[in-house]
Amino acid sequence: MVDLRGVDLGVKIGKLELPYPTFMGSGCYGSGEEFASFVDLARIGAVVLKSVTRLPRLGNPTPRLVHTPAGMLNAIGLQNPGIDWYLEQEVAKFASRPCAIVGSVAGFSVDDYAYVSERLATRDEIDALEVNVSCPNVASEGETFACDPKLTAKVVRAVRATTDKTLIVKLSPNVTDIASIAREAEAAGADALAVINTVRGMAIDVDRWQPRLGNVTGGLSGPAIRPIAVLAVYEVARAVTIPIVGQGGIETTSDALEFFLAGASAISIGTANFTDPQIPLRIIEELAQYLRLRNLGSLAKIVGKANVGFSNPYQYEGDEG
Ligand SMILES: Cc1cc2nc3c(=O)[nH]c(=O)nc-3n(C[C@H](O)[C@H](O)[C@H](O)COP(=O)(O)O)c2cc1C
Repeated sequence: MVDLRGVDLGVKIGKLELPYPTFMGSGCYGSGEEFASFVDLARIGAVVLKSVTRLPRLGNPTPRLVHTPAGMLNAIGLQNPGIDWYLEQEVAKFASRPCAIVGSVAGFSVDDYAYVSERLATRDEIDALEVNVSCPNVASEGETFACDPKLTAKVVRAVRATTDKTLIVKLSPNVTDIASIAREAEAAGADALAVINTVRGMAIDVDRWQPRLGNVTGGLSGPAIRPIAVLAVYEVARAVTIPIVGQGGIETTSDALEFFLAGASAISIGTANFTDPQIPLRIIEELAQYLRLRNLGSLAKIVGKANVGFSNPYQYEGDEG
């Protein structure tokens, strides 16, 4: 039982009103059903579904997961049944979920994104959309949409034109200036930003002299990326006025607090669910306790509190001191 005793953990992300500030990260929580026997889904906030594409995808060759120190590399390759099957076979099941359901849209062209979002958005079972812009643009030598401010803006504008539902745009950390991409996404119509997706990485098997992932490279998640993610939230929060869903390596309440203090209004928990599905519930209970001990009635009171009144973090030439 979650004991909030008068502390308000509620958040508003676009039109989405949640009693708890916790999202379950795309690709890490199935559709929620997979976790229903471990946790009460009414207490987790929102599930972001696995990203869906226009056509079915088998995903990358195996191995697709590699353990790393304090993290995990994945190269799933957006395996999913495609939007037709998804709408026919999956979406109706979400109606009975006691938490918010966020559909995740992926694509390989601007048109793909618009097509998938338009179709997903027709369904009442989907409360909001997240746009996963960390995909290659096949029309331009496979450049990742999320790595180019103009391409990101194009996708967001196209998706925005298809729906009035809350639109969360998920940014990639694999860029030099995440703030400029965040600004473009906001200007193009995003209601909120998810910060961050996985960090590019690679691991090599030294006996076989081969990359460990079938896809060679993958995305690093888990605690190893948390400082990268906290900095990204800090920078994005200074660049935009829309809410941020902070993520990357959150395992404990203290981790979550770093994100709120950096400027996130909500958090998302991904990889940690694989080891302990109770983590999201523990975090909301302990967040309430943290606020109560400080006589703060609501989570909103601490959002961005480590991110006000500081000068530009780039005032020094080097980071190493
Ligand atoms: C196995 C796996 C699959 C993922 N699939 C997706 C996906 O389909 N779409 C997406 O936007 N993010 C995907 N992600 C990224 C997560 O949603 C999350 O943003 C990222 O892992 C950082 O958070 P974490 O460290 O809490 O996992 C995936 C992550 C993992 C580990």
